[in-house]
Amino acid sequence: MKRVLVATGGGDCPGLNAVIRAIVKRASQEPDWEVIGSIQSFDGILREPTEIKVLDERAVAGIHVQGGTIIGTTNKGGPFAWPVKNKDGSWTAVDRSDEMIRKLQYLGIDAVISIGGDGSQRISQQLYEKGLNIIGVPKTIDNDLSATDFTFGFQTAVQIATEAVDKLVTTASSHNRVLILEVMGRYAGWIALHAAIAGGAEVCLIPEIPYDIQKVAEKLQSRYNKGKGYAIVVIAEGAMPKGGTLVSEQSDEVGYHNLRLGGVAHKLSRDLKDIGFDADIRETVLGHLQRGGIPVAYDRVLATQFGVKSFEMVLEGKFGEMVAYRHPDIISVPLIDAINKPNFVAPNCDLVRTARGVGISFGD
Ligand code: F6P
Repeated sequence: MKRVLVATGGGDCPGLNAVIRAIVKRASQEPDWEVIGSIQSFDGILREPTEIKVLDERAVAGIHVQGGTIIGTTNKGGPFAWPVKNKDGSWTAVDRSDEMIRKLQYLGIDAVISIGGDGSQRISQQLYEKGLNIIGVPKTIDNDLSATDFTFGFQTAVQIATEAVDKLVTTASSHNRVLILEVMGRYAGWIALHAAIAGGAEVCLIPEIPYDIQKVAEKLQSRYNKGKGYAIVVIAEGAMPKGGTLVSEQSDEVGYHNLRLGGVAHKLSRDLKDIGFDADIRETVLGHLQRGGIPVAYDRVLATQFGVKSFEMVLEGKFGEMVAYRHPDIISVPLIDAINKPNFVAPNCDLVRTARGVGISFGD
């Protein structure tokens, strides 16, 4: 019997379960393969006792409809930076990658499929360089990887953000308010841009197009001047004014190295007030709602394609590669190329032109 280990790493993302299910269902068509899930990314392998579980067809039945991941995930630590507590209460990051590879050999693991974002795929590349038979499956709601046209989870996040805009419109119009919706996306404005167009927002602020607060105020004021006494602003968490900085904080959670973004909606609201914009303003931070709930059909399909392809790459021995979607094909690309190329909104791209064409202001 051959064994493939599946791990989900980084922040969760709608569609992870559909990938897991597809891997298991495709593997079950081979006479000699078993799928093992590692609990909470590679932590399950490194913990004592080991936390893994056999994923057979029964274990994955119907899970493509569920958000989250049935094998858990983490965006802290990892095999190259495992946090160990010192006697004085401080923490040291320890490299346990060799130990993990030995443990995988001991467990009879022939190949690993790592489903995760850029951080997880960097770990995949490092493990590959150490000789591990590993394949990457990209995931992120932010859609910020250029190796693939889309990542699963993105369309679900856009749908949730758009539904939030739809709901805000009714309350904004009832109260003649400006309602600001803050959405995720880290350094990419894809979720904000799609939700602004789909929801018909007046203003869309994204990291790739720094804004001028006066221009934002002018656009909002023009709505009131025209007698349309309300407006919707969609702002990406990584957006910033011209010459400004990210609104972020360093988390004190052990092993968590990402900057925590968030707070731009409230900053924008304060800044508008400070320059004398006098309509009522309220802020909504959509946060992790964007990652929760059931994946939309598009994400289930893409995730299923990624799952089937990744197992077929195991059969073909395409290690050190990552699954990617290049319309209309599902292909594989070297991990090393994939991890270093982010996908940002080009300020002059068609989608931005479309948004401007329907009167959306970027505050520039
Ligand atoms: O990368 C996905 C993402 O949801 C970002 O959009 C967001 O900034 C971040 O993860 C939030 O991470 P966490 O779940 O650790 O708060």
